[in-house]
This record gives sequence, structure tokens and C-alpha cells, in this order.
Amino acid sequence: METIKTQGSKGRGVMRWLTAAALVLGVGFSAGAYAGISATKHNLSTSGTGTNHVTAGTGADQICVFCHTPHGADTSAPVPLWNKKLPATTYQTYDQLNTSTLDGKVLSVGSVSLACLSCHDGTQAMDNLINAPGAGGWDPAGARPAGWTWTGVGADGLMPAGITNIGADLRNDHPIGIQYCGGGLSGTGTTLSGSCNDGDFIGTTADGSGRVVKTASINTNQVFWVEVNGSTGRQKDDIVLYTRDFVGSGGVGPSVECASCHDPHVESKGSDNIAFMRVTTAGSQICLSCHVK
Ligand code: HEC
Ligand code: HEC
Ligand code: HEC
Ligand code: HEC
Repeated sequence: METIKTQGSKGRGVMRWLTAAALVLGVGFSAGAYAGISATKHNLSTSGTGTNHVTAGTGADQICVFCHTPHGADTSAPVPLWNKKLPATTYQTYDQLNTSTLDGKVLSVGSVSLACLSCHDGTQAMDNLINAPGAGGWDPAGARPAGWTWTGVGADGLMPAGITNIGADLRNDHPIGIQYCGGGLSGTGTTLSGSCNDGDFIGTTADGSGRVVKTASINTNQVFWVEVNGSTGRQKDDIVLYTRDFVGSGGVGPSVECASCHDPHVESKGSDNIAFMRVTTAGSQICLSCHVK
């Protein structure tokens, strides 16, 4: 209990500092923090300003098309209107590292993480699309539009080598497809039941900063999140926990996936402005949004 309180007051201290920094930096800070996807490394269109983006090609000025299509999307996993084949890659998962301390069950790589890995595992061209821009152009197997040219990315269109190319070995990455807090939580409507099997996590009781796991039923889908920003309901700057079926160990429940920590549309919340975080990395606030350490 004491640990939680100490941590909460630290959290509030950081928030106060950030608010002060925002006031001092004024408009420049706001523009950086709230600019949309066009100003990020996920703008792969001809208007992209990152190292890697398309430089010319019919329809290549479209930003969303690299990830979403309004029609004919891949439905082999629950990802929103996905315009790329989801990878069939065989992954090595974090549990295969065999740390003695891991509590949660790790599932095969799935959910929204597959969407991220459809570029970040480095196996598929980043302009390999199911529905290319313009009339027709639909190929459920995926195809690269003719005549598109890139800067940064090689002729193969793959994620360049380096830390952003996550690869198929996920043993050196924060676990994904893993039960939140060692399992133990379930939800019905807005009622959260059970308790964390691993007590070192934000759970059913709010910590000093008001962080707490919440649940709701939307279109009969039971959803879970860690309330961080304090406003009502699940927001993009809360920690999103994805619903997965942990058969044999607690049934349907919350899981940590790539997009639990990252929102692919917004560069960052916070003054550090890195890596599409849902919660700032300043003072390790992102880590302390789940872990009680
Ligand atoms: C680099 C890939 C990428 C690009 C480019 C992209 N998105 Fe997304 N989008 C995703 C992923 C991954 C998700 C699922 C994330 C989640 O679970 O919150 C998503 C989710 C969404 C959602 C549903 C969840 C939410 O945050 O509201 C909407 C709506 C959406 N995208 C709209 C857009 C639009 C509009 C554009 C273009 C302006 C765009 N996206 C560009 C990857 C992308
Ligand atoms: C269409 C391809 C594509 C998809 C899909 C995609 N990304 Fe990216 N992502 C990129 C590219 C390209 C970069 C820039 C790589 C570089 O410069 O080395 C990038 C960079 C990043 C970065 C680093 C940002 C920084 O400031 O350095 C993060 C974090 C990231 N992506 C996370 C995600 C997550 C999480 C998802 C899924 C929710 C996702 N990406 C889906 C293409 C993609
Ligand atoms: C538990 C939180 C968490 C999860 C889950 C997570 N990430 Fe990250 N990721 C981070 C943080 C924090 C950083 C910033 C690291 C840094 O500052 O170097 C980061 C950085 C990145 C980067 C940029 C690497 C760099 O150092 O420049 C990429 C790309 C990325 N993540 C992609 C992914 C993908 C793809 C997944 C799912 C397979 C994923 N992340 C899952 C927290 C997470
Ligand atoms: C979305 C919630 C969430 C966030 C955010 C998060 N983690 Fe985790 N983390 C988990 C879960 C769940 C596990 C699995 C714990 C278990 O089952 O024992 C885990 C596991 C770990 C492990 C491995 C534990 C082991 O026993 O092998 C480390 C280390 C870790 N996290 C560090 C971090 C750091 C550092 C950050 C911030 C960069 C971070 N985490 C952010 C949820 C999160």
C-alpha cells in the first residue's frame, strides 16, 4: 500500500511538471503533441517527412491506404479494415526466453500485434496492399502498385534493418499476446471480477494516481483498459488491453499487445515526443501505467 502511494505522488509530480512544461513551451508543444499522423513516421505517402516514404506513384499521396481500406479488408484477425495480408510468419515468443519470473500465459502472435508486424517483422513490402488506390486494384493476396518509388526503403519495399525491424524473434521484445497481470481478471458489462494473479500490476483498486483497470461491453464485445487519463470511458491515451481467449487459463480476458502501449496515429503524448506512445515515457510513466514497481 505504501509503495503504491509513493508511486502515485511521483506520478502526480511528473504530471505537474509536464503541465508546467506545456505552459512554458506554449503553442510549439501543443502542435507537436497533438499533430495527426501526417506529421509522423507512419506517413509513408508522398507527403511523408520521415526517412522512409514513397516519393512518386499513382494514388501514393494517400496516407491511410498503407494500412486501411474502406472495402475488401483482411478479416483473418480482429484488426480494423486492414489493407495488408496479415503475416503467416512463425515467431519466437517472449516466454521461450524462459525467465523464471513470468506469470502470464503467452498466446500465439495475433490480435492487433499482427497488424503492426505486417510491416515491422520485415517480411512483407510496406506497399504490398490488398486494395490499391483507385478503381479496381483489389487483390486479396496483396500486390505492390506498379511505378511507386521509395526513399529510404530499398527496392524490395521491406522495413530497413535496425531497431524498427522487429523481426520474427520476439524473445528480445516486451511480451505481447500475454495475459495482463498474470491473468485472473474477467468482466461482465461494466463489472470487473476476480483479482490479478500477479499483484505487481495496476488492478481492480485505483492506485495513488487513479490508475485502475476498467471494463465495458460494447456490441457484446467485452473490452478492457487501464484508466490513465481520468476522463470517462476508454480513450486513446488510456492503456488499451485487447480481449483474447486464454482457453484453459481464465477464459476470455485482457491481453497486452503492441497497441496497448502504442497508438499508431499520434507521435507521442508528452514532451519527449517519441515512438507513438499512448502515455509519455517521461519518468517511465508508460511502464508505471501497468507495472507497480
Ligand atoms: C501505419 C499504419 C496505419 C496508418 C497509416 C493508419 N492507421 Fe489507422 N490504425 C492502424 C492500426 C494498427 C489500428 C488499430 C489500433 C488500435 O487498436 O487502436 C488503427 C485503427 C484505426 C481506427 C480505429 C481505432 C481508433 O483509433 O479510432 C481508425 C478510425 C483509424 N485507424 C483511422 C485511420 C485513418 C483515417 C488513417 C489515415 C489518416 C489511418 N488510420 C492511418 C494503423 C494505421
Ligand atoms: C505500413 C507499414 C507499417 C505498419 C503497418 C506499422 N508501422 Fe510502425 N513504422 C513504419 C515505418 C516505415 C517506420 C519508420 C521506420 C524507421 O524510420 O526506421 C515506423 C516506425 C515506428 C515506430 C518508431 C517511431 C519513432 O518515433 O521512432 C514505432 C514505435 C512504430 N512504428 C510502431 C508501430 C506499431 C505499434 C504498429 C501497429 C499498431 C505499427 N508501427 C504499424 C511502418 C509501419
Ligand atoms: C509494454 C509496452 C510496449 C509494447 C507492448 C510494445 N512496445 Fe514498442 N516501444 C515501447 C517503448 C517504451 C518504446 C520506446 C523505446 C525507446 O525509447 O527506445 C518502444 C519503441 C518501439 C519502436 C522504436 C524502436 C526504437 O528504439 O527506436 C518500434 C518500431 C516499436 N516499439 C514497435 C513495437 C511493435 C511492433 C510492438 C509489438 C510487436 C511493440 N512495439 C510493443 C513500448 C512497447
Ligand atoms: C500494457 C501494460 C504494460 C506496460 C505499459 C508495460 N508492461 Fe511490462 N509487462 C506487462 C505484462 C502483463 C507482463 C508479463 C508479466 C508476467 O506475466 O509475469 C510484462 C512483463 C515485463 C517484463 C518481463 C517480466 C518477466 O518475468 O520476464 C519486464 C522486464 C517488463 N515488463 C518491463 C516493462 C518496462 C520497462 C515497461 C516500460 C517500458 C513496461 N514493462 C511496460 C505489462 C506491461
